Amino acid sequence: AALTLLVVFLIFADISEIEEEIGNSGGRGTIRSAVNSLHSKSNRKQILKFLDAEKDISVLKGTLKPGDIIHYIFDRDSTMNVSQNLYELLPRTSPLKNKHFGTCAIVGNSGVLLNSGCGQEIDAHSFVIRCNLAPVQEYARDVGLKTDLVTMNPSVIQRAFEDLVNATWREKLLQRLHSLNGSILWIPAFMARGGKERVEWVNELILKHHVNVRTAYPSLRLLHAVRGYWLTNKVHIKRPTTGLLMYTLATRFCNQIYLYGFWPFPLDQNQNPVKYHYYDSLKYGYTSQASPHTMPLEFKALKSLHEQGALKLTVGQCD
Ligand code: CTP
Repeated sequence: AALTLLVVFLIFADISEIEEEIGNSGGRGTIRSAVNSLHSKSNRKQILKFLDAEKDISVLKGTLKPGDIIHYIFDRDSTMNVSQNLYELLPRTSPLKNKHFGTCAIVGNSGVLLNSGCGQEIDAHSFVIRCNLAPVQEYARDVGLKTDLVTMNPSVIQRAFEDLVNATWREKLLQRLHSLNGSILWIPAFMARGGKERVEWVNELILKHHVNVRTAYPSLRLLHAVRGYWLTNKVHIKRPTTGLLMYTLATRFCNQIYLYGFWPFPLDQNQNPVKYHYYDSLKYGYTSQASPHTMPLEFKALKSLHEQGALKLTVGQCD
């Protein structure tokens, strides 16, 4: 109980510190600072020591064959066989081979995006990364529409598509996948055994309906590499969130990185409640109970990079 109290205290101490700084920034919630390309560059250099982002972004066809056995990263005792469908969908070359972008947006899923009016700004970036198939159409004014890469944790199939229990849900997922229209669909298939069937369902749907997406399945080393980089920087992250994985990968391809929808706190800077996700009713405690993410700690690290000018965090309205 004492430990829980301490954790709660630390989280809230964190929020007030962050809010104080945002309050002092003079902006309407946007922490103002330009992205300094020198800082971005040195940051990238450091990250590249741990990570070969071009490779680690996806396992390639040449490295696996159907029937190969893979141990799940978080459930080392459990294994999966590489199915024919998964094999078919592995890319032959890295989906981001030789790619470089001027500016990239990484869009997290915090409710802080609601009423932000950031849609246009987000869509103006050369490369836009989104997380967990978050809906865009109904929220375009605040989150934009452009999607170059979107992640999909297998748990999304359960949470947002009712585990495809009937034809209606299958159709909903299919429509969402069709709407991706050639972008990269990034599926962490080798993380936890719980995702096994869900990944197979999605793979099957994509193949059966000839969905126009470029599938990518992060390498087995990615998580360790990302964790290793942050640990070296004294950020002790057990299980990096999708948002942090995306940021770390993006440093390889993007000169300047802008983050939106990163706000893992229940209140905004004006003490108004903030939804955990902008699009669903998932509640706040979800992170601490069901998953070992340490979002506030990650946020602190990202905020510190923002202050150094290595990235730009927008946590309120866009101009
Ligand atoms: N995020 C945030 N604040 C929130 C919600 C999300 O900063 N209130 C960021 C996190 O970096 C997160 C990303 O947005 O990784 C995408 O959100 P979500 O889909 O909830 O992320 P996951 O990390 O994939 O969560 P889970 O493992 O629970 O699926």
